[in-house]
Amino acid sequence: MKMTSRSLSRAALASAFLATTLGVSLVLATSATGAASTLGAAAAQSGRYFGAAVAAGKLGDSTYVNILNREFTMITPENEMKWDATEPNRGQFNYSGGDRILNQAVSTGKRVRGHALLWYQQEPGWAQRMEGSDLRQAMMNHVTQVATHYKGKIYAWDVVNEAFADGGSGGRRDSNLQRTGNDWIEAAFRAARAADPAAKLCYNDYNTDGVNAKSTGIYNMVKDFKSRGVPIDCVGFQSHLSGNPPGDYQANLQRFADLGVEVQITELDIAGSNQANAYGAVTRACVAVARCAGITTWGIRDTDSWRTGENPLLFDGNGNKKAAYNSVLDALNAATPTNPTTPTTPTTPTTPTTPTTPTTPTTPNPSGCSASVSLNSWNGGFVATVKVTAGSSALNGWRVTTNLPSGAAVTSSWSASNSGTTGSVTWSNVSYNGTVAAGQSTEFGFQGTGSAEGITSTCAAS
Ligand code: XIL
Repeated sequence: MKMTSRSLSRAALASAFLATTLGVSLVLATSATGAASTLGAAAAQSGRYFGAAVAAGKLGDSTYVNILNREFTMITPENEMKWDATEPNRGQFNYSGGDRILNQAVSTGKRVRGHALLWYQQEPGWAQRMEGSDLRQAMMNHVTQVATHYKGKIYAWDVVNEAFADGGSGGRRDSNLQRTGNDWIEAAFRAARAADPAAKLCYNDYNTDGVNAKSTGIYNMVKDFKSRGVPIDCVGFQSHLSGNPPGDYQANLQRFADLGVEVQITELDIAGSNQANAYGAVTRACVAVARCAGITTWGIRDTDSWRTGENPLLFDGNGNKKAAYNSVLDALNAATPTNPTTPTTPTTPTTPTTPTTPTTPTTPNPSGCSASVSLNSWNGGFVATVKVTAGSSALNGWRVTTNLPSGAAVTSSWSASNSGTTGSVTWSNVSYNGTVAAGQSTEFGFQGTGSAEGITSTCAAS
């Protein structure tokens, strides 16, 4: 009895002490900074997201899924929405991996960054073997089909990934995509906007971590797109780093933001002994830029990373938080709570689209070819694809005349050269598509402003 009462009073004393300590520390943790205890909740305090690249094949791993569900508010499929995964054979689409990840995100209240509609890597074999107008057609169809499948479900699409060259040129990287014509990027953005007007459309690249020749090339493209009304809403900075970001990392983000696009850190991973500091520096830079909408790490645990052996992520192989995790959490918690109306509003007003309507199948032309136009239109603009078909003998050159209704004007084109941009516009073949066998077809295309409904076309051999 004595023993019991002594034990009880000791226990009572101990728990009173514990409660006090706990109470004090809880009060300190919440009142001093308003600190949140997960990456997603901490980022949300300033209106931002915190994301991770996720592999569908790991969704059965409970450690992985527990961390994913607890910490992250945005998901990027690591490989499942790339071209080789979604269109393994031309015109045959496979959304199984992408859909699995999307469903995981939706069922846990997270959003998805779509990655990536066009990229020179992870092209399916059939596309790698293509060039010219055939490839251009396949590229645009891919963008349209995939963006349509995920319509209304994607927060932001990486429409084009890694199109700029490394080094000092500031120019485009050579690829079969690039060789279809310099306008392939804007054509892809227009096609993506037409297919999914609600998704933010991003250009995404690496080695763009400071003001350098490559990031400046991209900056100039974005500036040009904004000035000409090409629909672009965001720029992704992959940020695969080794050690600290460059000193002008934040200034570089800011100059893009000042063009009126959202900026996002899209594939963050950092190798090196200075990792915790470097993660803190990147996070502080993002939260200091009002239009920096969020950060995504490229994987969850070190063992999930594509940078094998470099341990560049926030959780170790056992799923434990690393020092770098605490740096990021602290930097997110230190961010100024943002006015909810400021950071996440779409930058470009989106407009409803009209479904693709084939127009003007043209009657066979006595001079040996026919042309037909199909239109993909939205409010204020259009993409026209023109099919040129040879008659009973082969073509060794062709000329197509399109008659645009008044108010419509051509702004860019591919796989043909034009004279004029309004009214009657004449199109001639380029070097690689002048020869068309009897009964066979080739295609070219153009984009424009205004409405092209009612466009007509005629074809002549040249
Ligand atoms: C990587 C994936 O992590 C790997 O699993 C895959 O084998 C290759 O691609 N830049 C990107 C990402 O935009 O898509 C890449 O992802 C990493 C570099």
